[in-house]
Amino acid sequence: MTETRANTKKLFIKTYGCQMNVYDSDRMGDALAPHGYEPTLDIAQADLVLLNTCHIREKASEKVFSELGRLKELQTERRAMGGDMMIGVAGCVAQAEGEEIARRAPVVDMVFGPQAYHRLPDMLAKAEAQRQLHPSMKRAVIDTDFPEEDKFEHLPLPKKEVTIKRGLTAFLTVQEGCDKFCSFCVVPYTRGAEVSRPVAQVLAEARGLVEAGVKEITLLGQNVNAYHGDDKGRSVGLGELAYRLAEISGLERLRYTTSHPRDMDDALIAAHRDLDILMPYLHLPVQSGSDSILKAMNRRHTAAEYMTLIERIKTARPDMALSGDFIVGFPGESDQDFEDTLRIIADVGYASAYSFKYSTRPGTPGANLGDQIGEVVKNERLWRLQELVNKQTTAFHASCVGKTLPVLIERPGRMPGQVGGRSPYLQAVHLNGGTELIGAIHQVEIVGTSTNSLVGQLRQAVAA
Ligand code: 5AD
Ligand code: SF4
Repeated sequence: MTETRANTKKLFIKTYGCQMNVYDSDRMGDALAPHGYEPTLDIAQADLVLLNTCHIREKASEKVFSELGRLKELQTERRAMGGDMMIGVAGCVAQAEGEEIARRAPVVDMVFGPQAYHRLPDMLAKAEAQRQLHPSMKRAVIDTDFPEEDKFEHLPLPKKEVTIKRGLTAFLTVQEGCDKFCSFCVVPYTRGAEVSRPVAQVLAEARGLVEAGVKEITLLGQNVNAYHGDDKGRSVGLGELAYRLAEISGLERLRYTTSHPRDMDDALIAAHRDLDILMPYLHLPVQSGSDSILKAMNRRHTAAEYMTLIERIKTARPDMALSGDFIVGFPGESDQDFEDTLRIIADVGYASAYSFKYSTRPGTPGANLGDQIGEVVKNERLWRLQELVNKQTTAFHASCVGKTLPVLIERPGRMPGQVGGRSPYLQAVHLNGGTELIGAIHQVEIVGTSTNSLVGQLRQAVAA
């Protein structure tokens, strides 16, 4: 039976936090598509609103509860007009808070963690059944189990036409969870232990994306370079997986994020040396440049080991652009510890970096540490760190002027007659040109920079 417009329902997913959540939101959309849900960008029209939450930093739950307050008002308006709206909370806040969300916000119909997305249609059916009851008797459907079964096997692959709408670049989650237990981080608790998807499953999803027009895939994992997928009984690391993906004809660019220094093994570094498809941009968080803070963070590496690793990577791929994460104001961080962080930033020379003030995450070992750093000091350190990183980013952009870089043209530009894309180093590039350039890699001469991007000029189109 063909579906009629009348029974199509509208789905609005609000995504917080990391790229893995972006991928998960897409897959939730895929899981609901066969059940008549299509995405809308207008939340006021939505029959189902899902908040895909992130718990990694402070005030995550407060943000969710205030959003739920707004949704309750929207739901009341919809009901006044004879409609309705169902509300679900997904992601890591849902995993961490579970029942508490349903208790504090009775407006919620479903609360479910990242391991339960393949059961979304079932949950929805149960929640709809609850709806038939009197509102005061309704109970939210809660699913925060870590199941034995493989959720990826049960999640439908994206439909071709859906994937095309997602554009030329796509995310592909290959690994979930984390066994590292950095003392500041909630991920090992909300996302659970490290799990890798089997090689065949990853290759099949990648082929599907490429067939649907995707040219660039970013492999995702909380600790992606800890990937160890099964291949007919043999364990395959991320390096080998990259060689296997490089064989897919039509796949032009491969990236991965985010990595732990301890898991940067020889095979992965060799892949950077050998594979043109593997882009020379690496997000490799160090968090701090001080050995005593790294120890307190349970990072399992020293500043010197990180520097040696960077040298090995740059030997394999001399033009590698580096990115990182930094936390300032970890408990006990002295002025000298912070200076050590500025020092490692100066030594590495980052193309970009993300920096955060430490925030206590309940349930993590860091939450029990004394010697918390005051807000004023954290602010000042964050400001100094970001000033240094901004200078490095500007210098990196400036160093590209005069070079010709292959740019994957992805979209129309901000101004008419312009198009935009990305350099191998993940920089945004704008240039004059028609929309016929979109969809291919073109040689672009970099002629200038603007605040956060490069300005280019088309050199020569790659033959079709
Ligand atoms: N406080 C501040 N930053 C944090 N991060 C993770 N947990 C915390 C926390 N409790 C940062 C780390 C990590 C990034 C994703 O978020 O830098 O690499
Ligand atoms: Fe969190 Fe550390 Fe695991 Fe990254 S490696 S997800 S920071 S515990």
